[in-house]
Amino acid sequence: AAAVPFHGARQSGVVHRQLPATRLLALDLPADADRGALRTLLAGTGDVLARAADGTLADARLAGTPPVTSLAALGPALAARLRLPAPETLAELPAFPGDRLDPARGGGDLLLQVSAEHPWTTGVLAEHLLTAATAAGAALRWQQGGFLPPTPDGGTPRNLFGFKDGTANPDPADPALWHQDGTVLVYRRIRMDTAAFAALPADGRELAMGRRADTGAPLTGSAEHDDPDIYAKHPDGSYVIPAGAHVRLSSPRLDGGARMLRRGWSYDDAPADRGLLFCAFMPDPALFARVQTRLAERDALTPFLTHTASAVAWVLPGAPEGGQWGAGVI
Ligand code: HEM
Repeated sequence: AAAVPFHGARQSGVVHRQLPATRLLALDLPADADRGALRTLLAGTGDVLARAADGTLADARLAGTPPVTSLAALGPALAARLRLPAPETLAELPAFPGDRLDPARGGGDLLLQVSAEHPWTTGVLAEHLLTAATAAGAALRWQQGGFLPPTPDGGTPRNLFGFKDGTANPDPADPALWHQDGTVLVYRRIRMDTAAFAALPADGRELAMGRRADTGAPLTGSAEHDDPDIYAKHPDGSYVIPAGAHVRLSSPRLDGGARMLRRGWSYDDAPADRGLLFCAFMPDPALFARVQTRLAERDALTPFLTHTASAVAWVLPGAPEGGQWGAGVI
């Protein structure tokens, strides 16, 4: 497959199609690090990713492996400490009912995400990134790998509950998602009790989601990309997409039309720890907080989910040709 350019107004990890293998790395800078230290860290790690993207990184293990996409984003604490011109909306999330967050698996000053066709590539690149980060004085806080299932070209990948995930997404080019050429990432590591969900009757699973498992069509439609009609009722007055269905409670109609771009990967770290790496981009993480508050209280999926880690970060504008992420703002 063709290489994906590293340089551009917006980062490839948001705007390019999702590649099937991903690795997230969160790095911390020393408390007294200044903007210069951050610039050095961004230059070192960005250089690895730029060379990975154009195939010039000298490592036999990477021969013939493009495309690679990537993402760099800064945590709210670092942005505040260095008085960076982050979007005013950048802030930590509130606690939600049912959260079981492990601080050692969330947060961080610099979040890097690298995606490729194969976990081999993301693993090798994680090693290079870590070497560059350590040389720049940063320390690894956590890392997390994820994957997508084999998916037909142009199709929507499924999650571990077996449903297509990412159908009702805005176009990544939608100006409503962006602050200049940056945006905000919300990351949640969500453990899924796949066995208990699979034990529900098939129609119970579809009622919980509000969509069909096979086609991904909403219960009010017949094709995957039909718009879910959360107001449609059966003759007896009950909603076709039930009150607790995931696509009702996450519907942009309940948020004045505000939308997030969801790009999740599955993870499988141990038999009892599998789930979704929920990654979503939006100009204001308060949107995530409103949706997640509804989901935590009423979503039919909630009994099968545990949020185990969380991060919010400012996705920097892309690196201009010959320059680095955040050029001109950091
Ligand atoms: C839609 C699964 C967590 C927000 C969907 C869909 C599925 C799904 C299958 C329907 C297909 C689609 O449009 O992509 C899951 C699973 C989750 C999860 C398995 C947990 C493991 C969340 C969380 C949020 C969220 C935490 C945000 C707080 C949304 C939104 C939509 C959606 C905004 C699109 C609604 C629409 O426009 O119709 N999700 N989801 N989801 N989900 Fe989730």
